[in-house]
Formats: sequence, C-alpha cells, structure tokens
Amino acid sequence: MSRIAVVPGSFDPVTLGHIDVIGRAAGLFDEIHVLVVHNPGKSALLPIAQRVSLLEQSIVEANLPSNISVTSWSVGLLVDYCTEVGASVIVKGIRGQVDVAYETPMAIVNRNLAKVETVFLLTSPENAYVSSSLVRQVASLGGDVSPYVPKAVAAFLRKP
Ligand code: PNS
Repeated sequence: MSRIAVVPGSFDPVTLGHIDVIGRAAGLFDEIHVLVVHNPGKSALLPIAQRVSLLEQSIVEANLPSNISVTSWSVGLLVDYCTEVGASVIVKGIRGQVDVAYETPMAIVNRNLAKVETVFLLTSPENAYVSSSLVRQVASLGGDVSPYVPKAVAAFLRKP
C-alpha cells in the first residue's frame, strides 16, 4: 500500500525552508501532497492559486522528485483532505521550540479527529530563521529576499 503524506501550510510565499522539508519528506514517503491551506489567523499576501503556481515552479527549480504534487484545500478540515486522499501522515517542518509549541496542539487535534499522525522534520540549520512572514515584510519594504526563497519567488516578488 502506498504511504501518502500531506505537507500543509500557508506557503505565502514558499521559502527555501519549505522546499528543504518537502524534498526530505519525499524521500520518506511514497507520495507527497503539498497542500496550500488558507489560514484565517494570517492576513495573506498572495492569492491561493499564485502560491500553488510558485510552489510548482520552485519544486521544478529544486529538481525535487516526481512523487510530489501540489494542490489547495479550502472546504473544511485538513484531516478531511487527508481522509479523502488516503493520507495517514501530516509532515510539518520545525525550526525550534516556538514551532513545537504552535504545532503540538494541531497535531493532537488532528490525531483525535481522524487518527492522522503528524511527523515533525527538523529544519536544516541554514533555514532555521527563515519564515514567510519575514519574507513578506522584507519584500514589502523593498529589500532583497533572494537568500530565503526559490528564484521563481524572488523574481515574482521583484515585479512592480
Ligand atoms: O503555514 P501555516 O499558516 O502555519 O499553516 C497552518 C495550517 C494552514 C496548516 C493550519 O492552520 C491548518 O491545518 N488549517 C486547516 C484547518 C484545520 O484543519 N484546522 C484544525 C487543525 S488544528
């Protein structure tokens, strides 16, 4: 039976930290579904379709394996998507204790809701300080975000 894992997030925009975690997850599971989910707790920069497109371009750019697909989900719980596609695992990247504190309640709720387990992958040290919110702020003030994001994202954010 093929082991499907979902890597969910806002990806607003995708960073090199996300790409690192997605690529490493692809080596651990048969299929990876990268899922762009609207987070009502955050104010968005990019429309969902644009985030999906930048993820797809970034995955090609990083030469990641072909067992990765990208889609979005806006009609209910994350675990509803997992159940629909037969995914038993959610993968989240962890940069430090703040991420553990943020992710732990969601992991417990998702397991209680649908027996979906969450696997935490520790970020590579060079990405430990990279976040989409930092990228949004630097980009909005005209700074260079190219050290933190795939080339496709840097080019998109540079557009006037
Ligand atoms: O990148 P983010 O914003 O930290 O991702 C958080 C996200 C979107 C994965 C999370 O908010 C989520 O799972 N939302 C879907 C709604 C849901 O299922 N909520 C209950 C799980 S706690």
